[in-house]
Amino acid sequence: TNLKPYNTFGLPCVARTLVRITSEADVRRLLGDPELGRAPKFILGGGSNLVLTRDLDACVLKLEVKGRALVETRDDCHIVEVGAGENWHDTVQWCLAQGLPGLENMALIPGTVGAAPVQNIGAYGIELKDRFESLDAVDLVTGRTITLTAEQCRFGYRDSVFKQHLAGKSIITRVRLRLPRPWQPVLGYLELERKVQETGITEPSAQQIFDWVCAVRRAKLPDPAVVGNVGSFFKNPVVTPEQCRDIIARDPHIVHYPMEDGSFKLAAGWMIDACGWKGKSIGRAGVYEKQALVLVNRGGASGAEVVTLARAIQESVYGRFGIRLEPEPVVV
Ligand code: EPU
Repeated sequence: TNLKPYNTFGLPCVARTLVRITSEADVRRLLGDPELGRAPKFILGGGSNLVLTRDLDACVLKLEVKGRALVETRDDCHIVEVGAGENWHDTVQWCLAQGLPGLENMALIPGTVGAAPVQNIGAYGIELKDRFESLDAVDLVTGRTITLTAEQCRFGYRDSVFKQHLAGKSIITRVRLRLPRPWQPVLGYLELERKVQETGITEPSAQQIFDWVCAVRRAKLPDPAVVGNVGSFFKNPVVTPEQCRDIIARDPHIVHYPMEDGSFKLAAGWMIDACGWKGKSIGRAGVYEKQALVLVNRGGASGAEVVTLARAIQESVYGRFGIRLEPEPVVV
């Protein structure tokens, strides 16, 4: 099977087999299969956080578990249970339509619900972990279903246990989202504050925030359905106050944000831009014109070209700022 249609970067990759998983029972059936049960497994969601650089001698499990339901209402929150194979953005919209706001700042993030906890997706001041109750996953060795709490998922900035020691070992089938009651808008992010000022709407509804976030994202992030990409290609590096002071001394304009623990997050997009990469290409892999943190497929790029471009960017940022940028998507 060619995985090109199943990864939003549109990179070519041939996999041994592709198996569609629509339930926990499907996983157990697969594990019991005399041949496929023993083959190495590769878990695929929406393929929106994946850079494929080689063919896969593995059985690819494509997560297609469906279903969305309000399963519980407590004094302080609603709990919505969603199948891992549901599209994330559609789920944000569905919740709004049900009168269950809380996910609107994370509108238009590509990918599936099952992939959301893997990298703890986030945007405009809210991360998945802020709206998370628990998830179900099937252990790929024992076939048993386990339920993990937020704490057990060890969420970090674009990170979780599923990118660390559970990587490739278990498969997320269902996610329970926790939507706080009463709803409160999250407007702290610069671009949303700007919308408040522009429009004079000081008490926006969840739908209004949803519309703003969609407009902001459409203005500067490429639509993967049109231009292959995986969103931000690098994480924003976190540095100590001392490191931050040194860098500001050399580059007074560097964009930086103070973190709760006293460290500083630097805008990787700004640094890549400052190194002159915006709009540049190596082969058919390029740096997006409107957001330097996003690498794009200009048509027919290979994973190797993307990796070559990413390394060249890492070298120039290291040369100028002494900072090593870390890729954000999973590079295979
Ligand atoms: N900037 C530039 N030039 C650029 C790009 C950015 O100067 O080419 C500057 C911007 O002007 C801004 C700063 O860098 O002052 C930060 O840029 P932006 O607000 O666009 O956000 P980001 O740090 O690049 C992060 C997330 C995004 C998320 C946005 C909004 C990461 C790696 N990226 O991007 O998440 O949508 O904030 O919350 O944390 C993703 O993870 O795939 C993703 C898109």
